[in-house]
This record gives sequence, C-alpha cells and structure tokens, in this order.
Amino acid sequence: MKSGFPHFMLKEIFEQPDVIHHAIHSITEETLPQSLLNANSIMVVGCGSSYHAGMIFRYLLESACGIPVRLELGSEYKYSAVPFNDVIIGVSQSGETADTLAAIKKGICNNVKTVAVTNVLNSSITRSAHDTLLMHAGPEISVASSKSFIAQVGVLMQVINLLAGGTCTEALSHARQAIEQILITDLSKAVDLCSNAEHLFYVGRGVFYPVMMEGALKMKEISYIHAEAYAAGELKHGPFALLSPQTPVIAVCVPGTAYEVMLGNLKEMKSRGTPLIALGIQDDIDLNDIADILIPVPEAHPWIQVLTTTVLLQLLAYHTADSLGREIDMPRNLAKSVTVE
Ligand code: M6R
Repeated sequence: MKSGFPHFMLKEIFEQPDVIHHAIHSITEETLPQSLLNANSIMVVGCGSSYHAGMIFRYLLESACGIPVRLELGSEYKYSAVPFNDVIIGVSQSGETADTLAAIKKGICNNVKTVAVTNVLNSSITRSAHDTLLMHAGPEISVASSKSFIAQVGVLMQVINLLAGGTCTEALSHARQAIEQILITDLSKAVDLCSNAEHLFYVGRGVFYPVMMEGALKMKEISYIHAEAYAAGELKHGPFALLSPQTPVIAVCVPGTAYEVMLGNLKEMKSRGTPLIALGIQDDIDLNDIADILIPVPEAHPWIQVLTTTVLLQLLAYHTADSLGREIDMPRNLAKSVTVE
C-alpha cells in the first residue's frame, strides 16, 4: 500500500522520522555484541548503499573512539590477500547480497567474529554471522534504498555512541524531529537545474563524502542522469577538466572542520562557470555569495546533519526522477537484492 503517496520510494522517505527513532533505540548496551565491545579494530563490508553506510561508520567511529576501521566492498574483499583478523560487520538490508555474505563467510573461515546489520530476520546473513543487529525499518519496496539506508546509519551511529560511552545520546535524541523538519523543504529550483543536466558532480569532505556518494547513487539509479561523487579535494587531480557551465555541482558545506577548505574548493569550481547547488546553513553569507541555489540544512550536531543532508539528497533525486517521468520504484536493469556475484 502506498498510503496515498505516488510511489513507494516517497512513502518510504517519509517514514524515516519513525525509522531512525526505532533503529537507534533498537540497540542498547545489553544487545551490543561482546565482540564489538572488545574490538581493537573493525572491518565493515557492504555493497552499494550499504557500503556507503559502512563508510559513514568508518569516519564517525574513528573520530569518536579512535578504533581503526577497514572498509571493504563485498565484491572486492574476496581478492584481498590480507584477511582481517578482528571483528567484521556485514551491512546488508536484505541479508541476501551474495558478495557481503561471502565476506562474512570468509571471516568465519578465518576464525573472525562477525556481526550482521540487516533488516531481515532469518535472512542468510543472520544465519551465517555470529551476532545480528536488526534495523527494524520495515519492508522496503522501492528498489532504491532510502529508509533502510537511514536505519543502517542509525544503528551504526548508536553502536558508536555506546562504544563512546553515550557521548552522542543527546544529539541522537533529535534525529527524528530533525528529519521530520526537512521533509517539506522546497527543492523546486534545484530539481529544475538537475533535470536539465546530463552530468552532475556531488562533492563533500570527511563524513559528507560518503553522504554525497549515496546522493549520487540515488540520483543515477532513479533519474538515469550521470551523477558522480568526489571527495572535494580530489577534483583538482583530474575531474576539474570536466567542469563547465553544463555540469552542475552539488556540495555540502556546513560549519565544521572542513568548512573553510570546502568553501575554497567551491570558489575554484565556480570560477570554471559551474552552476552550484550548496547544502548549507541558510544565512551563511559566504556560501550564499557563491551558491546559485542554497538548500538549507538546519544547524545541528554533525551526526544529525549527516542524516538531514542524506534525506535532502534522496528528495532531490526523487523529485528530479519524477519530473523526468521515470519509473522510480523499479528502475531499469536493477533488482532489489543481488544474490549472484
Ligand atoms: O540488501 P543490501 O543492502 O545488501 O543491498 C546492497 C545494494 O544492492 C543496495 O544497497 C543498493 O545499492 C541500493 N538498493 C541502492 O539504492
């Protein structure tokens, strides 16, 4: 049932205030696997959006707890000659992705403790891994992940919060309301710009780099517009050659450690004539000066801004795809779960 929404994807995007709340509260000190409490290092593995959730985990865990994280694509870990020997977290909405499952099984063969983060109880990954953390997002019908991605990030944030002694509990208590508040953001100008483009660049720094990777994946899979994400500092090393007035750039530039350098990067991009859609603070004068379109991100704890920017980019992809008349819930050539290598 779409409950009055034109597509399951939009319905699932709008479920996210509740989904984040349940995901965060489903993990407690009592349910946290002992292997994570004892970990000196953690490997996280996933595919597609689940890999992006793992990448967010890496940035946040390393900075909150100083625990090193190795990040692997499910499809590539099998080629690694240096197996990991501490704890492996496999992130998979369906729990059936062949490559993520293979990575978990490789870990088990090497006597490594494994933890599954999944949405589906009794899925293959829950039957293989030593421990399971359920996301409780409810069934996701749209092929493009939205609420399951937010739930993965919510579960992983709560794991970090607990490992860090609850230092982010207060921040996380605002997650539900923060997402609710941005669902009604007017994105029409940004949608106009994107739906007329053939290529889009998504850029961010630090933890906002995987947020942009997820935003670009959403855009390409449902709108069929070529959307590429880069770490903002990497553009100078090649992709700058592609910038022109025909290649809009979408960037996150919120106050924080990367703010000044990000602003500098954006000025360099603007000088190549690129239209700029910036996600940032509404009354940021410097950003307003260079952005053609500013999508407001409420001031909040950085973890909350990871969530709100993610949802804004889901909505941008959704409305762009809708304005182009795309299929949205069942994009061409894609399946909801990929059970072959
Ligand atoms: O079920 P999984 O989380 O293991 O699926 C992994 C990817 O196939 C999946 O995240 C895919 O990238 C998304 N549906 C894209 O929106």
